[in-house]
Amino acid sequence: MTQTIPISSEPPLAVEMRGIVKKFPGVLANDHVDFELRSGEIHALLGENGAGKSTLMNVLAGLYRQEAGVIKVKGKPVEFHSPRDAIKAGIGMIHQHFMLVPSQTVTENVLLGLDNPRFFMRLPQYDAKVTEVGERFGLKVDPRAKIWQLSVGEQQRVELLKMLYRGADVLIMDEPTAVLAPQEIEGLFEILRSMAAQGKSIIFISHKLQEVTAIADRVSVLRRGVATALGVPAKGVTRQELARLMVGRDVVFSLDKKPGNPGDVVLEVKDVYADNDKGLPALRGFSLNVRAGEIVGVAGVAGNGQSELAQVITCLRKCRKGQILLNGKDLSAQNALFGIQHGMAYIPEDRNRVGSAPNLSVTDNVIMKKYRQPPISRAGLLDMNAATKLANELKEAYEIIVPHVSTPVRLLSGGNLQRVILAREISGLPSFMVAVQPTRGLDVGAIEGVHRLLLAQREAGAAVLLISEELEELLSLSDRVYVIYEGKSMGEVKIGSAEPDESLIETIGLMMTGSPLEKIHKEGVGAHG
Ligand SMILES: Nc1ncnc2c1ncn2[C@@H]1O[C@H](COP(=O)(O)OP(=O)(O)OP(=O)(O)O)[C@@H](O)[C@H]1O
Ligand SMILES: [Mg+2]
Repeated sequence: MTQTIPISSEPPLAVEMRGIVKKFPGVLANDHVDFELRSGEIHALLGENGAGKSTLMNVLAGLYRQEAGVIKVKGKPVEFHSPRDAIKAGIGMIHQHFMLVPSQTVTENVLLGLDNPRFFMRLPQYDAKVTEVGERFGLKVDPRAKIWQLSVGEQQRVELLKMLYRGADVLIMDEPTAVLAPQEIEGLFEILRSMAAQGKSIIFISHKLQEVTAIADRVSVLRRGVATALGVPAKGVTRQELARLMVGRDVVFSLDKKPGNPGDVVLEVKDVYADNDKGLPALRGFSLNVRAGEIVGVAGVAGNGQSELAQVITCLRKCRKGQILLNGKDLSAQNALFGIQHGMAYIPEDRNRVGSAPNLSVTDNVIMKKYRQPPISRAGLLDMNAATKLANELKEAYEIIVPHVSTPVRLLSGGNLQRVILAREISGLPSFMVAVQPTRGLDVGAIEGVHRLLLAQREAGAAVLLISEELEELLSLSDRVYVIYEGKSMGEVKIGSAEPDESLIETIGLMMTGSPLEKIHKEGVGAHG
């Protein structure tokens, strides 16, 4: 008489994916991928742009149906035909682009799509319920606020609340920190830790290796649709090791920046005042200049006027006062076409709306600024063969992963869309370039590539204005850095070619929180501690 005794007392995995295959026309996005998620863990999913991370998670969240492979939730096989099915099984995904209704309140958004049509009659009760769920996980947000009134960080909390309210045990976050300012990231991490401590399992997609080592318990890596690491403990894993797993080669973390050789002033911003979209002052007497052959950085905490600065320079926003000169010509009465005709390139912050036309092909997007010139335009007609040829050359040179250049860019992965924009802007050999957060959402290999491209622009004699929230990026690329705070310049620091020392970083940090450089010099760094 034998008795079956369970061999292992290990709890079943929260999620188990085996041999997942997902194809798109011309792309094998997931090639027999395995993935395991334990209960109560924070699991980072890494991989280059286009590696298949979002696809794998969309399969898990019921958005895509896999062609092969099985998914088990708490040990039981499941089949999802819609996100609704996945949510019923306790799996909720927060996408890169939020799906909230701006004109409705937080509570209304949380309840949206649930089967209680008359909820609005008892809204106060629901407000209390939403608040209660929020408090349990440290998600502070006013249930009666309208979505449009909320910051991006708050909107993200609403998305989380929505999933928690539906009883999700597994939360998938697709690049949640890409949209957050540095000071909001720590807040999100606290929320994630609190959720994990209460038994929720979290999948966290990110390109920032330091974030992964800071927050994750384990790490899985995809490379070109194939899993190259499956649940490696995050403690002790180095940036180099992770980068190698993702890219398949060593990634250089230090750049070869040649000594600068600045020429004439190309851009001059003189005492500029401008308002933001809400009509409030965003730039309040800001000045800077950029010379040929140099990269000038603008550092600052998000929301201190950086976006508006880029917009007034590219003629997308009017100045209220002050002057902007490009090669000595006043830009104030011009429009964006003037900039294009005078060799200005622009890598905008918002690649989906400002930077590209989502429904148009890769070809259309790369020729956008060139369709008036030969060889693309001949006798006033568009030469589609020449356009396709150019697009294919750029696809090759900028390593844009896409089956065909006729693919609409909305189907590209985040990082590949960024490459399309870079290819368009840089291939025009600009004399002046404004780059806003040019590496946001890019993988380590691609970041390295963009940094090289920017340095190459500098060596070719272009004037580059680099607006970034990544201090490390600014320090490694710039010749000079201005710090912007509440629309004003806190001063300008020179960056040598050697590693920047601690006191310089500390000084910039103080300037970013509103101490003018002059004052710091007068009082010494320590006085501000
Ligand atoms: N709906 C779709 N139709 C066609 N191709 C798609 C679709 N979604 C993704 N792809 C392709 O599948 C591949 C994997 O894309 P995916 O979005 O999963 O990458 P990712 O790892 O999330 O990249 P990123 O870091 O850039 O966001 C890419 O080549 C992408 O172009
Ligand atoms: Mg993605």
